[in-house]
Amino acid sequence: MIRQSLKFRKTVSIICIIVLIVFIFLVLNKDKNYDIQIENSHSEDAQALSYRDFNRPKKDIIVPREQSNIMDSNSVKEEKDNTKQELLDAKARIELLEKKLAILEGRIPQKYPEVKYLGYKERRRILVTGGAGFVGSHLVDVLMMRGHEVIVVDNFFTGRKRNVEHWFGHRNFEMIHHDIVNPLYVEADEIYHLASPASPPHYMQNPVKTIKTNTLGTINMLGLARRVGAKILIASTSEVYGDPMVHPQPESYWGHVNPIGPRACYDEGKRVAETLAYSYAKQENVSVRVARIFNTYGPRMHVSDGRVVSNFIMQALQNLTITVYGNGKQTRSFCYVSDLVDGLLALMDSDYSLPVNIGNPVEHTIEEFAVIIKDLVPGCRSTVATGAAVEDDPQRRRPDIAIAEKHLHWSPKISLQEGLQRTIDYFKEELSRTTFYNNQTYMDAKVKASHIRN
Ligand SMILES: NC(=O)c1ccc[n+]([C@@H]2O[C@H](COP(=O)([O-])OP(=O)(O)OC[C@H]3O[C@@H](n4cnc5c(N)ncnc54)[C@H](O)[C@@H]3O)[C@@H](O)[C@H]2O)c1
Repeated sequence: MIRQSLKFRKTVSIICIIVLIVFIFLVLNKDKNYDIQIENSHSEDAQALSYRDFNRPKKDIIVPREQSNIMDSNSVKEEKDNTKQELLDAKARIELLEKKLAILEGRIPQKYPEVKYLGYKERRRILVTGGAGFVGSHLVDVLMMRGHEVIVVDNFFTGRKRNVEHWFGHRNFEMIHHDIVNPLYVEADEIYHLASPASPPHYMQNPVKTIKTNTLGTINMLGLARRVGAKILIASTSEVYGDPMVHPQPESYWGHVNPIGPRACYDEGKRVAETLAYSYAKQENVSVRVARIFNTYGPRMHVSDGRVVSNFIMQALQNLTITVYGNGKQTRSFCYVSDLVDGLLALMDSDYSLPVNIGNPVEHTIEEFAVIIKDLVPGCRSTVATGAAVEDDPQRRRPDIAIAEKHLHWSPKISLQEGLQRTIDYFKEELSRTTFYNNQTYMDAKVKASHIRN
């Protein structure tokens, strides 16, 4: 009995031990499965996170330890590469901006010329057509310095932005790129209408366009003056006298123009412009001023202007032969540009509404001019030679300025020597600043050397 009971206990103990071992095994296995499940669920989460929310900081992403070590080193490398690339991009952008800044700094003057302050009652809004050209840009300078608001309208046919760039950004200055053959709608108190090519090679290059500018363009400007009630000054020319039969030329002389000659597009264009001005004055009550401008010279005139002053100075500066077309006995009177501008301003401000000659009455033969210019250029080794005469070239040109003296109290002040010296200095600078071809306008590029005229 006792033996049986001992056997039974032993069996029960063994069973208990086996059950315990099985239990422990199951429990341990269960923990392991749970860990695997958790790990799997975490890595799925991590993937889901990286797809859905790439902006979330990386520390939120839970990854298995070994995998995390590999990813860490990869992402650090990637991050380093990205930062390096970003730095290179930023450096390139900064270099580009620095270059742009340098160009802009070079263009925008540090300081504007001194401008007078005018109250709103005295300040006028003044439109200057052809304001980027030779005469126009000097006129713009004076109007700006007097404190007026200036609007320049130009199509840059012969003009250059460089002539007025020292005003870019000034609150009183505005520039409109526009061809006056098309209507223009702006507000203005006064209009100086100067837009037209002025030198023979320029105006002969496209005669139809020259006529359109002086007729349609003038109609557009007179129409604008009528609409806004502005006073308008028309830049006419001594060419309305053609090859004159009267000497010197008074305003009362009607002229001697060949209507079908090579210069007619300009001469007749200007004559029609004058006719239009007085028609608008009579019919539409527009307040008009007409300046008959004689040959003018000075800084900012075209290097390839093709007329006496620029030709001779350029030839003398480069020790080239100074070419006189014809026998050299034809005469011209040259007015320095600041004198002309003073005359235009005096005319606009006056009550005189008939045409007025503005020019310098000191007359020289072309031959004499060649020698004067040669003597003013130090060390000039040029010789003077004659070439074939130019068709319809006026033989005598000298203004009678009695009306300007009487009604405008104006007469030129700058002597020929002084004016030429300033002009020579300008051309010298132009030559050294840039090569001839870099300095050209749109028009210059089209004009052939064979067109050069006196
Ligand atoms: N310079 C002289 O010796 C002289 C003599 C007599 C008359 N003028 C007259 O004075 C004025 C100015 O002459 P400049 O010597 O300054 O000549 P310029 O060629 O230097 O200037 C004329 C300006 O008018 C612009 N222009 C031409 N056609 C245009 C158009 N359709 N629309 C807009 N702009 C246009 C040109 O781009 C240029 O800026 C002209 O009307 C000219 O006939 C000049």
